[in-house]
Amino acid sequence: MIESNFEEDSTNVREVSKDQKDEEINFEATLRPRSLDEFIGQKDLKEGLNIFIHAAKKRGEPIDHTLLYGNPGLGKTTLAHIIANEMEGNIRITSGPALERVGDLAAILSNLQEGDILFIDEIHRMNRSIEEVLYPAMEDFALDLVVGKGPSARTLRLGLEKFTIIGATTRPSLLSSPLRDRFGSTYRLDFYSDSEMSDIVSRSAKILGVKIDQETCQTIAKRSRQTPRIANRLLKRVRDYSQVKHDGLLSSDIANSALNMLAIDELGLDGSDRRVLKIIIDKFNGGPVGLSTLAAATQEERETLEEIFEPFLLQLGFLERTPRGRVVTEKAYKHMGYIKPIDTLL
Ligand SMILES: Nc1ncnc2c1ncn2[C@@H]1O[C@H](COP(=O)(O)OP(=O)(O)OP(=O)(O)O)[C@@H](O)[C@H]1O
Ligand SMILES: [Mg+2]
Repeated sequence: MIESNFEEDSTNVREVSKDQKDEEINFEATLRPRSLDEFIGQKDLKEGLNIFIHAAKKRGEPIDHTLLYGNPGLGKTTLAHIIANEMEGNIRITSGPALERVGDLAAILSNLQEGDILFIDEIHRMNRSIEEVLYPAMEDFALDLVVGKGPSARTLRLGLEKFTIIGATTRPSLLSSPLRDRFGSTYRLDFYSDSEMSDIVSRSAKILGVKIDQETCQTIAKRSRQTPRIANRLLKRVRDYSQVKHDGLLSSDIANSALNMLAIDELGLDGSDRRVLKIIIDKFNGGPVGLSTLAAATQEERETLEEIFEPFLLQLGFLERTPRGRVVTEKAYKHMGYIKPIDTLL
């Protein structure tokens, strides 16, 4: 009954949110590039970062605070680890929502050694009072603590070691400008090209011990929404499929059958993406439709629509954001097998 096991594995291959199971986290960690050389694509970013790291090393100083932003699954966490590796420093990992009390952050900061890296994931979700503790810490390597209460309260300044904060966010616009200004450098991660994606699939297959040819890598790459995390998940699902149905043999045709079974189309859209497009077309005549109305109609959260669905639909040119709301483009109509009505042509 191996076959039914395969069907039951319901890991959502497209879902790129952070609610991951342990198994998934381990899987990602195995495939994570450890050095800049191993990190595929993002050429300009890598070049800049390389110079930045080497210059800091030459001066014997920690690197400036660094902000990494980009859509989920493009490599922000991976890069934070790579920077720590290249700098030969320790990395402490936390996230905006995990830092609930000022004391939590103060404890973390005062334990950092010179050259350590504090990685703050989802930094846009940090609350304001915590953020204010970070300002002097980032600027002057100092912690301002309030001691006592009422009229006798005074501020005590505590020196910190020279450390580096690496912040990661999918929503840079939600960062307050004082916080944004305190980062010495900011890097944006873009979607990957087809050939970079194919290289990523090939690299991951090697690590997983999967025998695969270039054409099959390209087949998987093409449907991976230009996102490494998705490529790795699809590779895993294709591997499972081939083990169950074809004794582990892989070919482009076999990969295509596996992906068809997962209802992932040739552009990488799955059932839920097509459903969102279909709702805009059927219920709103292609748009414009406001985000809240669309959230209600699709029964998805606004954030999910904005962070998970929209970036890739915008990237494909299937969706446009207008002042009056979201509009489905003619290209998307075509892909969905509809004809866009003339009077609503953009
Ligand atoms: N440039 C790359 N080359 C090879 N593999 C990559 C690359 N970028 C990311 N990956 C792979 O994709 C997976 C997801 O990357 P990562 O966790 O760094 O994304 P992220 O940007 O932090 O996502 P999130 O916003 O959800 O936290 C990792 O397991 C890593 O193996
Ligand atoms: Mg991450």
